[in-house]
Amino acid sequence: MHIGLFDSGVGGLTVLKELVKEFPKAKFTYLGDTARLPYGNKAPETLEKYSLENMEFLASKKVDAIVVACHSASSVCLEMNLFKKIPVFNVISPSCKEALETSKSKKIGVMATKATIRSQVYPSYINQLDPSAQVIGQECPLLVPLVEEELSDDEITEIILKRYLKPLQAGSVDTILLGCTHYPILKDSISSLCPDITLIDPARSVALKLRELFDDSKDEESPMDIFLTDHSPHFITHAQSILGENLKHLIHYPNS
Ligand code: DGL
Repeated sequence: MHIGLFDSGVGGLTVLKELVKEFPKAKFTYLGDTARLPYGNKAPETLEKYSLENMEFLASKKVDAIVVACHSASSVCLEMNLFKKIPVFNVISPSCKEALETSKSKKIGVMATKATIRSQVYPSYINQLDPSAQVIGQECPLLVPLVEEELSDDEITEIILKRYLKPLQAGSVDTILLGCTHYPILKDSISSLCPDITLIDPARSVALKLRELFDDSKDEESPMDIFLTDHSPHFITHAQSILGENLKHLIHYPNS
């Protein structure tokens, strides 16, 4: 079993972590499109183009499944049926069900990039499942650069988080979907500012979605390869703190 996944940067590593837990024998190929980060403020047509290129790259590595480990890209890939033989999984639809099961008030907040919020994909999916649910979306464009710069625990991040959380708290949501794969890195900081609200990290429900289709069969090749489209000074530190391993020797730069 060989799983390929991509994101603009380190965010998709939060999904990779759950996939490694669920499929410990599988091989993984991760593509971080660091040369074109951030994705969250790009137009849908641009994201579609980047996503297609990233998926072609992963397909060339002979993966059995592709996980679009980025909500901004997932928001344009949901209906794309690209490859007949390679199933493509998004990070948006699996967590909508989990959010509805978690929320008692059926008032659900979504923190995400501008691209994801403007796509309206969350209200559309959640309301397909439960038309009475209320979805409040909050664009959080400053969070990805703060995470990438390793400022997750900085006071500046706290100030910005307070501002982004205000409309969700004013709307009395009891559940917040972390609608960007970078945001679980901020989970502790977010939950300390809103301890009564349940946070949903989509990674687990994505891993379970793949589990419905695949067994954890052994892949004989090296268990992991990481490709970055540009040098990214903090990537290795992030990878080490998220995955608990020094992955420096696994990182390749396909464009250099
Ligand atoms: N982690 C991505 C997402 O889930 C990309 C964010 C970005 O590059 O702006 O949306």
